[in-house]
Amino acid sequence: MRALVTGGAGFIGSHVVDRLIERGCEVAAVDDLSTGKAANVNPRARLADMDIRDPALLDLADSFRPDVISHCAAQASVPNSVSDPMRDAMVNVVGGINVCRAAEQAGCSQLIYVTTGGALYGDPERLPCGEEHPIRPVSPYGVSKWTLEQYLRVLMPASMGVKTLRLANVYGPRQDPNGEAGVVAIFAARMLRGEPVTIFGDGEQTRDFVYVDDVVDAHERAMNSGESMTVNVGAGIGTSVNRVFETMARETGYEMAPKRAGERPGDVRHIYLDTSRARRMMGWQASTTLADGLRKTCRAFR
Ligand SMILES: NC(=O)c1ccc[n+]([C@@H]2O[C@H](COP(=O)([O-])OP(=O)(O)OC[C@H]3O[C@@H](n4cnc5c(N)ncnc54)[C@H](O)[C@@H]3O)[C@@H](O)[C@H]2O)c1
Repeated sequence: MRALVTGGAGFIGSHVVDRLIERGCEVAAVDDLSTGKAANVNPRARLADMDIRDPALLDLADSFRPDVISHCAAQASVPNSVSDPMRDAMVNVVGGINVCRAAEQAGCSQLIYVTTGGALYGDPERLPCGEEHPIRPVSPYGVSKWTLEQYLRVLMPASMGVKTLRLANVYGPRQDPNGEAGVVAIFAARMLRGEPVTIFGDGEQTRDFVYVDDVVDAHERAMNSGESMTVNVGAGIGTSVNRVFETMARETGYEMAPKRAGERPGDVRHIYLDTSRARRMMGWQASTTLADGLRKTCRAFR
């Protein structure tokens, strides 16, 4: 099987590439290395340094003939989407449409769209947030990721399996501290250097932290499923930022108290995802405990 992974040099994409290689797939990673690193890419995959908006993506897909495209590339930073919404839309929407065209033209049997759950549902009306929760993103990033979901619905032929994975806050080795959900990566980097760590607000705000290996498992199950689907992928549990801080401080031997700063405008108070659809449709549920995931992450950062 041949797989083309956009964003294959990034945090999540590079783990997807590793798993596909492990399973014996031939893999091409497409990445413009804007936030990703060539060093993240498995040496058994080929890396095309290319922007997903480039029309040459169609030629690449045409000659590589992937069975599946996993679309992980994105402008994935919420703050950057606020400061430069135009670029965010160009990459996440226009680039995404180019990926759809490449998938169709190359005759792929499926497209996996890696997108956000955390930035889609806004300030939740009810918890946990299921896929049917009203969509009301509060950042340009949430809007652009949602817009591509809509394009997939209207652009992709019925014969193509479209698997949309709405991810919670993913953490793990190789995460860039500047990404969408960089809190774990930021804490790990700063704690290990003995630098001050800042918690915004009272730290009792909760997020759904899911370990990257669990996400890769969900990706694999989605790929092996014959059905199109839109599913939340998260731990299904809300964990406070204070708890993450305490667990990581223990893990790294960090003894400084956190610095406190004001709440960030636009931050939702509590969010975690209902993952029962993923369990029903593909028998997946997150299996890594927060303690184990944070331990592995701290070790990798060390
Ligand atoms: N990390 C999270 O918690 C999280 C949560 C929800 C959704 N997501 C989604 O997961 C996907 C991967 O995110 P990540 O956390 O690994 O971030 P990342 O920044 O590490 O990965 C994104 C990759 O896309 C590449 N890229 C960006 N613009 C590109 C372009 N125009 N052309 C080609 N490549 C380009 C980057 O170089 C990078 O390697 C994204 O689609 C993101 O929206 C991430």
